Amino acid sequence: MAREKTSFRTTLTLAKADVGSIGGHIKPGERLLDLVRNFLNRMGKGLLSDFDVMHTGDDIALLLVHSRGRNDKRIHKMIWDAFTAAAEDAAKQGLYGAGQDLLKDAFSGNIRGLGPAVCELEFDERPNEPFLVFAADKTEPGAYNLPLYLAFADPMYNAGLILSPGMFKGFRFTIMDVAYTKGDRVIELDAPERLYDIAALLRDNERFVVESIQSRQTGEQCVAVSTTRLHNIAGKYTGKDDPVMLVRVQGAFPATGEVLQPYRIGHFVGGFMRGSHTGPLMPVKRNSSISWFDGPPIVSCSAYCVHGGKLTEPADAFDHPFWDYVRNEVSRKAIDIREQGFSGPAMLPYSELEYGGIVAKMKELDKEFRIRK
Ligand code: F6R
Ligand code: MG
Ligand code: MG
Repeated sequence: MAREKTSFRTTLTLAKADVGSIGGHIKPGERLLDLVRNFLNRMGKGLLSDFDVMHTGDDIALLLVHSRGRNDKRIHKMIWDAFTAAAEDAAKQGLYGAGQDLLKDAFSGNIRGLGPAVCELEFDERPNEPFLVFAADKTEPGAYNLPLYLAFADPMYNAGLILSPGMFKGFRFTIMDVAYTKGDRVIELDAPERLYDIAALLRDNERFVVESIQSRQTGEQCVAVSTTRLHNIAGKYTGKDDPVMLVRVQGAFPATGEVLQPYRIGHFVGGFMRGSHTGPLMPVKRNSSISWFDGPPIVSCSAYCVHGGKLTEPADAFDHPFWDYVRNEVSRKAIDIREQGFSGPAMLPYSELEYGGIVAKMKELDKEFRIRK
């Protein structure tokens, strides 16, 4: 069959925010999701070619499809307005933490820096264009570091690196230093040549975060991660950043199953209760809620194809008997680390403890110390 030609230039904009949830930080509820869907249906006319709305834990994620490119003011304004409308309704409903992630009072041209997490990909659609939407809750953007490293740079996880000529040249990682707040401090490193340098940075999930990945074969970007650090914006604890990510798959990019494979590990990440603990990242179904110890940290994955700016229905990538088994194993890991409560690595280091109370407590205790003669 002859391949259909398409030169459709598509932008995917993925944004998420916690604007209020039911019963603590569990989930936003159907009323709020419906409100956002209706809002986008109304306001997206003439702007969006398609959209989808979902939630992961207490965060609402908006997937917007359009042809206006990245950092488009009208698209970003629409996201801000959608979350603001949702936050107002959340307040009316008496939802917990209404407006939690909207950290500024007004829109100022770009959604970045205002609280919601956002990432975007712009590309000429391939004749068939499969891609994945990841949304995580109760964790930080660096939670994607290890899965991305394994899926894009390690032939133990990505068989295509040794089997598929389109991937032989490897991938370029753009990594951001998220501790730097005066601008975007980034480094570009090529795998496989700079593998050890990439690993040296990515070991530090709190500080160095994969922002994007590019194919060295085609020059095309295939990964975009939200790298917002809420506490850098707010200057204090406001909740973990709960990152979203877009990944184009197949062909010159890793296969969906290769991108998914590292999530079998349930690797330990920062987040969990009060954004202050270590817990394993559990792959969950779309629209899952939060539960045990305000966790565990979770990640969902919705798979789509986009064609001429129109989305297929989502396929739930972690809704499969295999992942039920994984979830049981990850639960075991979560129980193991929780059994030691506050002790040692079960809780995050001082710099990442996002509730300030302990700092005041330590100052008080400090006065009671005596140096023994
Ligand atoms: C973590 C999170 C929750 C809250 C916890 C206390 O990201 O959202 O674990 O930190 O439920 O919430 P507050 O301080 O709102 O009572
Ligand atoms: Mg929350
Ligand atoms: Mg959240």
